[in-house]
Amino acid sequence: MTSPGNFISPMTTIAREAGGLLMNYFNNRVKIEYKGEADLVTEADRASEELITGRIRELWPDHDIVGEEGTRTESGSDWRWYIDPLDGTTNFAHGFPVFCVSMALEYKGERIAGVIYDPSRNELFAASKGGGATLNGRTITVSATATLRESLLATGFPSRKRHQNPNIHFYHQLTLRSHGVRRPGSAALDLAYVSCGRFDAFWEFNLNPWDTAAGVLIVTEAGGTVTNFTGGPFSIDSREVMASNTLVHEELLAVFHSIFAGEPLPEPALPRVYLQSRKS
Ligand code: IPD
Ligand code: CA
Ligand code: CA
Repeated sequence: MTSPGNFISPMTTIAREAGGLLMNYFNNRVKIEYKGEADLVTEADRASEELITGRIRELWPDHDIVGEEGTRTESGSDWRWYIDPLDGTTNFAHGFPVFCVSMALEYKGERIAGVIYDPSRNELFAASKGGGATLNGRTITVSATATLRESLLATGFPSRKRHQNPNIHFYHQLTLRSHGVRRPGSAALDLAYVSCGRFDAFWEFNLNPWDTAAGVLIVTEAGGTVTNFTGGPFSIDSREVMASNTLVHEELLAVFHSIFAGEPLPEPALPRVYLQSRKS
């Protein structure tokens, strides 16, 4: 097998090209279409996927590809790409500049190279298996924050079946136990931010392989830990992701355990009670 690190340069070229394409659409505003009630897609998502998959097919015609906007090549190859051509579509469609391109390469079931490119900030995060993680070519590591109490956290909420998602309980409890929980709207960038220490941890329910494949590798190569919500190994189709700087992982898992177990925890103040206190 070619060394995983050799893929980073061509992947960077492709991700930067796709990022440039996204910025052209972003600067001219795009029409919003709906895949579900609050699940958006735009012409830019499809154009970016077409560009990326075209480049992959030129360079590696025998590789399989899984792309969010419908690309599926299932030839049984040892090589498989996971492509999110635009992660953060809702942000993008509203002109909020937090979105990225995410690409990961898998060999025999293991992710060996990943890049995440944020064209608004010209930030390219990359990692190859055993080769460490970088931001615009400079080595990055996760934060040294030792406790949840001192942590800045991130999460996200799904755009499908929103009413079935319990994450608001986790959001509330972790908000009370940390410096705060951000909800930026791009899971791939959230993972990239854990890898360079901007966030100390990130979790989300219901993610897809194209959201996580690159980011999980980048976090682990930067010294972080990624598991499911009970501390078991992360798997590409497990849908739940808990990523941290390693140091706060056990503490975060313990909070999740308490919430899942239904232990008595502080409840949010009732809006009715607030209104009454305001009148008096
Ligand atoms: C979404 C983003 C968002 C996360 C959603 C994802 P998309 O991906 O990563 O942060 O909360 O669950 O679906 O649809 O913008 O590619
Ligand atoms: Ca996504
Ligand atoms: Ca997407």
